[in-house]
Amino acid sequence: MTTTSTASVRLHEPPSVPGLPLLGNMIPFIRTQGLPIDFMREAAAQYGDLVRLKVGGDTFYLIAHPDLVHDVLVKRINDFDKVSGAAEKPVALARFLGNSILTANYEDWRPQRKLIQPLMHTTHIRSYANTMAQFADKMTSQWQDGAVRDMHVDMMQVTIWIIAETMFGTDVTHTPELQEVAQAAQAIAVSDLTSPLPAALTHGRDRKAEQVNAVLTNIVQRFMAERGAQGNTDRHDLLALLMETRDEDGQPMSDEFVRNNILTLFFAGHETTANTLTWALYYLDKNPAVAAELHKEVDAVLGGRLPTLDDLPHLPYTAMVINETMRNEPTVAVIPRFVMNDTELGGYHLKGGSVAFVSPYILHHDPRWWTHPDQFDPTRFSAENEPNIPKYAYLPFGGGPRVCIGNHFALMEAQILLATFASRYQFSLMPGTAVEPIRQVTTSPKHGLPMRLTRRV
Ligand code: HEM
Repeated sequence: MTTTSTASVRLHEPPSVPGLPLLGNMIPFIRTQGLPIDFMREAAAQYGDLVRLKVGGDTFYLIAHPDLVHDVLVKRINDFDKVSGAAEKPVALARFLGNSILTANYEDWRPQRKLIQPLMHTTHIRSYANTMAQFADKMTSQWQDGAVRDMHVDMMQVTIWIIAETMFGTDVTHTPELQEVAQAAQAIAVSDLTSPLPAALTHGRDRKAEQVNAVLTNIVQRFMAERGAQGNTDRHDLLALLMETRDEDGQPMSDEFVRNNILTLFFAGHETTANTLTWALYYLDKNPAVAAELHKEVDAVLGGRLPTLDDLPHLPYTAMVINETMRNEPTVAVIPRFVMNDTELGGYHLKGGSVAFVSPYILHHDPRWWTHPDQFDPTRFSAENEPNIPKYAYLPFGGGPRVCIGNHFALMEAQILLATFASRYQFSLMPGTAVEPIRQVTTSPKHGLPMRLTRRV
């Protein structure tokens, strides 16, 4: 596919899905409360690898081919950036994270990534394995044989324990306001995305967001002051590492840089993993043969004891179950980018100011790259099969320079937690439960995941 950025040649707009006058394709978006992924998947199947959607006055381009993903996320990062110059004010999580590694445009992002990347290096990450296993143990110690629990709630809980400990060195059970304020921030972010209001009507939400922001700043400042007083000596959490970071001139980073980025890692680093684990438990219930294979592996390697870092290479099937979960239900279903100026992509004209959607979900369910894409089959990720997966047909962590910085952290955490849980318990969805994915910033089960627990060891 040709990919030169030029608006001088007269090109056609990509094919569009017929819609209603004025509203365009808005109805499926309104009906779904989140992203109408089935509608989008159908649109790509019917109209091609680049499809134009009109939602009211807004234009979205759906990108559904690995070559085009490569263009948008890897090759032409300045044409497809994170922040639109037209954005009036930050919304969703950007309200709370300010200018950070996750939210910044490419120019502001580059130095931040350079500074933070070494902190997420596997040498640091590996030291967290023990913490992850300890919290997996704490979670299972709250479970009883025969109990019915909402596993989505439990997965959110255990991952917030882990992220708070590894980022701030704090046990959230001793800092309940951190958990409360994080939930309030998530709720505001979701309202921003699902019930966008004209600026004149958002005062109530804005006021609440300001309060939440003040509390978040206060908590981080308190943690930073404690570090200052302790001289940063024996701490291994990310906050300590960020505070020790020096820029090219050897100067410490500003408090704002530390605040925005530690909060970013905190927010980006738990809900995503929690949802991945939630969906893994769901698929294990739906696929008893896969659950049996997983049990065989964890029983042979762990026999009920907690996993260590050294066990992880001996738990390949556990990792395959996680990879296949992220293929079937990638918790980030859509990765948006602003089309910065009128440009060309895949031989079509794209309008500046619109939004391009790279959709891991659609790519992960495309029969051109995956046989029986709706079947749950972890062997797709076996050592033998994985090398055959086309590049950019699988992107649960995104791709290119802005690929998830926490991918090793997340995979290690998911493997440790799933291995511990599966070795100790079996999980059965309560009969009659309709599990409905809701795809907002991340994809979670709309009504939770009530499961009955059966003790295995
Ligand atoms: C299964 C778990 C996770 C999934 C599926 C996931 C997914 C993603 C995706 C798709 C992106 C790219 C977004 C884009 O290009 O617009 C991303 C970026 C990011 N993720 Fe993750 N993530 C996970 C876990 C984590 C964890 C544990 C952390 C931190 C400890 C983290 C921190 C970040 C950050 C900071 C970015 C922005 C990177 C940049 O722009 O340079 N994520 N994640």
